Amino acid sequence: MPLANHIPVLLEETMRALAVQPGGRYIDCTLDGGGHALSILERSSPGGQLLGIDADAKAMEHAQSKLAPFGNATLFVHDNFANLRKVCLRYDFYPVHGILFDLGLSSLQLTEEGRGFSFQHDAPLDMRFNTSERLTAAEIVNTYPEAELADIIRKYGEEKLSRRIARLIVRSRPVNTTLQLADIVERAAGGRRDKIHPATRTFQALRIAVNRELENLEAALKQALQVLGAGGRLAVISYHSLEDRIVKQFLQRESRDCICPPGMPVCTCGHKASLKLVNRKVITPTEAEIAANPRSRSARLRAAERIATEEDCTTADELYLSDLRAAGWGKPALLKKIIMAFRTA
Ligand SMILES: C[S@@+](CC[C@H](N)C(=O)[O-])C[C@H]1O[C@@H](n2cnc3c(N)ncnc32)[C@H](O)[C@@H]1O
Repeated sequence: MPLANHIPVLLEETMRALAVQPGGRYIDCTLDGGGHALSILERSSPGGQLLGIDADAKAMEHAQSKLAPFGNATLFVHDNFANLRKVCLRYDFYPVHGILFDLGLSSLQLTEEGRGFSFQHDAPLDMRFNTSERLTAAEIVNTYPEAELADIIRKYGEEKLSRRIARLIVRSRPVNTTLQLADIVERAAGGRRDKIHPATRTFQALRIAVNRELENLEAALKQALQVLGAGGRLAVISYHSLEDRIVKQFLQRESRDCICPPGMPVCTCGHKASLKLVNRKVITPTEAEIAANPRSRSARLRAAERIATEEDCTTADELYLSDLRAAGWGKPALLKKIIMAFRTA
């Protein structure tokens, strides 16, 4: 099957949300074929810089040829965005003017033979974004206890029939290919009832579990705050309710000065807002975009601006200090002295 061209989703809306400016420094945490990255580079030129991260080395090859005309304005980093802060430190790329996450998988990955993301064609049950990671969907499907398998399908697929599906999977082991799995799920669900194939939610669940998508997103959002400069923008496009909930709750929490439980007479948390929401309401694609690119149908864009705080990180030391504070060390002045002592020793 030919590789589908990946059309960047909510492109104009995302560029507006990021407020891309000439000479700015940006991070695309989900580079893939470079659709959004190309627009960032065009709008940040002259002088713009982009650091593009993707867990999928093959996807990055497409971006490398697409972004070649921009020469060394782009740094390509094959890594997990859960290591965002480490990557920024390694390449001395912070603070930045904008960070983009366009989550999930791309049309390129979906249609690539042998990746196992889709049941439109037969392939081994792989589903790894990063093919050098160990865990595959086949391992989960064939080795996890039935209860754990059912939990994954329920939690990450929001699937009501998770127990029934897990039971039939376990009885049908070994389950080696996408079509075999899709058939098992269809039988467990008692056939097709609506337009959506009954295996869709199970495939989503396995992909999320294989790639630890929710854990990685939570980790990366926190780090994005550390490397975003004051006035910098964070934009996140999500495609299902589980990741959108994480993004929404994170932005809400970080844009509030107090996060004490309701009913507390005085604030005891000491939390300070570090973000300001760019849009009160989530941004979704227009009818015209959905008609032109049906894959955009479930996209939800949220964005926020970093506000200046005492904890802004413009040096590596400040980044380390902010890590220690996040780990519960509450005496920044003392920590600073310790770090300075080590640096001068
Ligand atoms: C929807 S695509 C991005 C498409 C891109 N914005 C474009 O317009 O070409 C999502 C990409 O994110 C990557 N990805 C997903 N989770 C990741 C993670 N934790 N770390 C790095 N890349 C990840 C996938 O490999 C995939 O290439």
